[in-house]
Amino acid sequence: MEQNVRESWGSRIGFLMAAAGSAIGLGNIWRFPYVAGDNGGGAFLIIYLGCVFLIMLNVMMAELALGRKSQISAVGAYKRVSRRWTFVGVMGVLSGFLIMGFYPVVGGWATAYIFKSFTGLLVDPAAIAGHFEVFIENPVEPLLWMLLFLVVNVLIVVKGIKAGIEVAGKILMPLLFVLLIVISIKSMTLEGAGAGLSFLFKPDWDAVSGQTFLAAIGQAFFSLSLGMGCMVTYGSYLNKGDRLPQNAFMIVTMDTIVAILAGLALFPALFAFGMKPTEGPGLVFSVAPAIFAAMGNIGIVLSGLFFVALAIAALTSSVSLLEVVVAYMIDERGLKRKTAVVFSASIMGIMCIASSLSLGIWSHVKVLGVGAFDMFDFLTDKVFLAIGGFFTAIMVGWFMDKKALKEELNNQGETPFKLFEGWYFLIKYVIPFAIGAVAITGIRSVEETGVVVLGMGIIALLAFISKKL
Ligand code: PHE
Repeated sequence: MEQNVRESWGSRIGFLMAAAGSAIGLGNIWRFPYVAGDNGGGAFLIIYLGCVFLIMLNVMMAELALGRKSQISAVGAYKRVSRRWTFVGVMGVLSGFLIMGFYPVVGGWATAYIFKSFTGLLVDPAAIAGHFEVFIENPVEPLLWMLLFLVVNVLIVVKGIKAGIEVAGKILMPLLFVLLIVISIKSMTLEGAGAGLSFLFKPDWDAVSGQTFLAAIGQAFFSLSLGMGCMVTYGSYLNKGDRLPQNAFMIVTMDTIVAILAGLALFPALFAFGMKPTEGPGLVFSVAPAIFAAMGNIGIVLSGLFFVALAIAALTSSVSLLEVVVAYMIDERGLKRKTAVVFSASIMGIMCIASSLSLGIWSHVKVLGVGAFDMFDFLTDKVFLAIGGFFTAIMVGWFMDKKALKEELNNQGETPFKLFEGWYFLIKYVIPFAIGAVAITGIRSVEETGVVVLGMGIIALLAFISKKL
C-alpha cells in the first residue's frame, strides 16, 4: 500500500541516534562479551572486527540505500525490486518476531537489576552470580519484568517513529557510554586484571574453528541490526540529502566501540575475581555488579545507573525490532499503527513467556533438542540474519540498477561517494561468497543440526510461496 506522506526523522542527528540506538543494545553489552568469552577471546575479536568492517559496513550501506530509495519498509522494499525477493523481507519480519521472543526477557532482567542494585544485591559479592541463576529460573518474577519492558515498547512504538524513538536515544546513549568508561577504568585497575586484557586482545588461534567464524558473523549481524530489514525500515525514514556512507560508518564504528568497551569493562574484572570467561548469558549480570560492589557505596548508585542505561539501550533496540514488524503490518497489510503494535506485541509476549520459562521450570521442554529461548536465539543469530544479509547482498549487487544505487549513495551527485566502485565490487562479488563460506563451514560444525534444517525449511517455504506474500 502506498503512503503519500512518509514520516521522516526530525533531524540528522535524530536518525543517527535512532540507528545507533537500534544497533547498540543487549547485543553489545550482554551478548558480545559472553560470545567472545565462549569463543576464546582475542581471536574471536579479530574475526569479529573483520566481519564488521569488511561485510557489515557495506551491508549497512546497501540496506540504508534500499530503504531510502523505495521509501517503504522492508517487505515492500524487497518486493519492489521483484516479487521474487519478497521472501527476504518476510524473513526479516519473522526474524523481528523471533528476536522479540527473547530480547524482552533479557531487557526485563536489566530492568530488574536497576531495582536489585538498591535492594541488597551488592551486599554480598560472593552471592551475586548465584543470585542471577536463581532469579532467571523463577517462574514469576522475570515474567513481570519482561512484561513491564514490553509494555514500555508498546507505548513508544504506538506513538510512532519520531516522537517515540528519537528522544530516548539522544540522552541515554551518551550516559551509557560514560558509564562504560567509568566501569572499564575500575575494572582495569583491579588486582589481577591483566589476565583479562590478554584474554581479550591476545589471539589464541588454536581455539578457532568454523564455529568461531559463524559465531562472529552472527554476532556482527545481530549487533548491527542487519540482515532482517531493520536498517531498510529506518533508512526509509531518512531524508533525501543525508549521506548514507558516512551515516553507515558512524553507526558501525559507534557500535563496535561500545562492544569493545563492554569487553574492557567486564573481562579484566572477571579474571580479577577468578571467574570463568565462559560464564554464558549471565556474564554481565554477574560481573558488573561484582565490580560495583568493590566500589563501596558509590557503587550502588553507579550500578543502578548502569542498569538504567542498559535497559534503555535494550529499549532503543527492541523498539526497532518491533517497528520492523509493525511497519510491515501498516505498509503491507493496511493495519492501523495501534492495532499492529498491540497485536504483534501480544504474540511476542507469549513467546517471551515460553523463553523465560525455558530457563527454569520448563527446562525439560525441548523441540529438536533446544528450549524456546535458545531456539529463537539460534534461529535468528545463526540462520536467518546471515542468510537475510546474503540474499540482500545478492539482490542489491546483481538485481538492482547500478546507476540508481550510485545516485542513492551519492545523493544524485551532490555528495560524492568516491569509494562507490569498491563498495559495489564487495557487495556483488565478495560479500555473498564470504557469508556463504562462513555459513557453510560453520553450520556443518554446529550441534543443533535439527534447528538448522528447520530454519532452512522455513526459508525454502517462504521463497516458494513468495509471490503470495
Ligand atoms: N542490534 C541490537 C543489539 O545489539 C539487536 C537488534 C537486532 C536490533 C536486529 C534490531 C535488529 O542489541
